[in-house]
Amino acid sequence: TQDTRTTLRTPIVAVLGHVDHGKTSLLDKIRGSAVSEGEAGAITQHIGATDIPLETISTMAGELVDPDDFDLPGLLFIDTPGHHSFSTLRARGGALADIAVLVVDVNDGFQPQTEEAIDILRRTGTPFVVAANKADTTPGWNPQEGEPIQRSLAAQSDRAESMLNENLYEIIGQLSDVGFSADLYWRVQDFQKNIGVVPVSAMTAEGIPDLLTVLMGLSQRFMREEMAIDVHGPGEGTVLEVKDERGFGATVDAVIYDGVLRNGDTVVIGGQNEPIVTEVRALLRPRPLAEIRTEKKFEKVAEVTAAAGVKIAAPDLDDAMAGAPIRVVRDRPVEDVVAEVKAEL
Ligand code: GTP
Ligand code: MG
Repeated sequence: TQDTRTTLRTPIVAVLGHVDHGKTSLLDKIRGSAVSEGEAGAITQHIGATDIPLETISTMAGELVDPDDFDLPGLLFIDTPGHHSFSTLRARGGALADIAVLVVDVNDGFQPQTEEAIDILRRTGTPFVVAANKADTTPGWNPQEGEPIQRSLAAQSDRAESMLNENLYEIIGQLSDVGFSADLYWRVQDFQKNIGVVPVSAMTAEGIPDLLTVLMGLSQRFMREEMAIDVHGPGEGTVLEVKDERGFGATVDAVIYDGVLRNGDTVVIGGQNEPIVTEVRALLRPRPLAEIRTEKKFEKVAEVTAAAGVKIAAPDLDDAMAGAPIRVVRDRPVEDVVAEVKAEL
């Protein structure tokens, strides 16, 4: 499997859902960070990207995952805001995604931005699983830190278990109302036909082993069938944010979703007025498990291979536009690439 690990692209997993349903907290639990606590009013206002290596996934998933079963390098998670005013960012996150996690608070069930997220996933044809979050808030819950959900359920009183089940079946019914056949994930045979619902807690990490396992299984199948792409071609990506970085001036936080981006490459980036043609001066990567939005210590690298979150330093990026395409020119005429970027704006 060593060979395919270098040619299979890291799948991009978008995390979508209603405000406060626990998207950032779930990612915090997976990466061992506290991004949510540092956010103003605990509201996410940007798209983030975090690379989770296969080793971390298999450690967290424990007995549920055998790393030898997978030949993906890991997962690139895209965090999105749930607040209603950020619909453009949700759509952008959804458009980048290969697969998605729809986070639903078990107590609140479907809310307006849950439905909006479902519309995005339907429109883009993105396979997804539902993380039924905050299972630990079920009255009488007996927390089993980090355990797979069925082991945790076995430790609950009949009353707590049936209260949780009631909420879970409510969500399954709501999914069915919007046209998706769904069931508790351990009853699902084909995750592309039926939506798996995974009870989780971002507080106690219960069910996170299950969620990671389902995501690995779904992306492995999906990537093998549809995305065994050439990761050596000219890089393609999307601007997440334009930010001033000390010592570099205006930089671009980006997700590269295809090919390779190298230091020194000529790139075309969508701008406020017209496409910017510039040369990459530095590629700065957050450490593995670090959120690009909040990372302070970047590592300079010579190249990045899709999929990856990366900060690009280059001249003339002040006018770069969030959401705009990024294209490496490589062997093509630069006018062709400029035209391609223009067509996408
Ligand atoms: P937006 O990004 O603004 O859409 O919110 P979000 O979905 O990222 O929610 P966030 O992770 O910021 O969590 C919102 C609140 O819910 C925080 O106070 C979290 O501590 C709390 N929370 C999230 N997940 C859980 C959980 O599983 N259990 C409990 N008890 N609280 C949770
Ligand atoms: Mg958030």
